[in-house]
Amino acid sequence: MKKLCIIGVGGTATDLLSLVETLNPTLPTAERWECIGFLDDNPALKNGSFHGFPVLGALSDAALVDQDVFFAFTIGSPRTAGKREKILRKTEIGRQRFPSFVHPQAAVPAGWRPGHGTLISPGVVVSRSAVIGDFVVVLPNSVVSHDSRVGGFSCLATGVCVSGGVTIGEDAYIGANAALRDGVCVGKGVLVGLGSAVVSDIEDGLVVCGVPAKPLAGRNQL
Ligand SMILES: CC(C)(COP(=O)(O)OP(=O)(O)OC[C@H]1O[C@@H](n2cnc3c(N)ncnc32)[C@H](O)[C@@H]1OP(=O)(O)O)[C@@H](O)C(=O)NCCC(=O)NCCS
Repeated sequence: MKKLCIIGVGGTATDLLSLVETLNPTLPTAERWECIGFLDDNPALKNGSFHGFPVLGALSDAALVDQDVFFAFTIGSPRTAGKREKILRKTEIGRQRFPSFVHPQAAVPAGWRPGHGTLISPGVVVSRSAVIGDFVVVLPNSVVSHDSRVGGFSCLATGVCVSGGVTIGEDAYIGANAALRDGVCVGKGVLVGLGSAVVSDIEDGLVVCGVPAKPLAGRNQL
């Protein structure tokens, strides 16, 4: 068994536990994952537990975790758009300790392995010519079409439709059921509201929503 410590207590962590439960029976025993607990900065979780696994400490305690333990980074609510890379940097853990996880019921190119720390949920479809960066979270039933690029640390919530040739910058958050028109560029740290239709390029750091998506507020106003 390989040991796994999950960074972030929340919905994505819950989904990752389910993913691991589904994945484990498909793996040789030595390759299976055993969750040892969580790291989270919420003081209310100190010495507590989540789904029966202990909260081992805060993110700054990552250095105290045994060297043979791997990590998953599941912090990724809409309000962390533009901040996920900075949050993870606090842990000072090397990328090589973050495996990627692909749900067996995701439709991905044969033999494809995403980069470090990327999580691919059930029902996700990834085209063979799409490129997905490190530490990307793709929630259930999202589609990343041909020739699209999803920048590192970005999150696609449930049911996102990324059309062909789209570029999503680093650390963006695309809300549930949003649709991105073919060829558009979404800047770094952008937050796209749920159900929005992005039909033109979006500058770095904006919050946009609606059909068609329009800026809601500057990044600092969230
Ligand atoms: C866009 C978003 C970040 C705005 O959140 P917020 O800053 O708290 O904004 P508010 O809820 O105060 O809404 C501000 C205005 O924008 C409108 N609005 C909010 N979200 C909207 C959306 N997705 N589409 C269209 N309009 C939206 C509100 O109706 C409100 O309009 P008003 O000023 O005319 O009353 C948020 O609504 C959102 O969509 N988050 C993503 C959620 C998501 O995808 N979660 C996925 C979980 S898997």
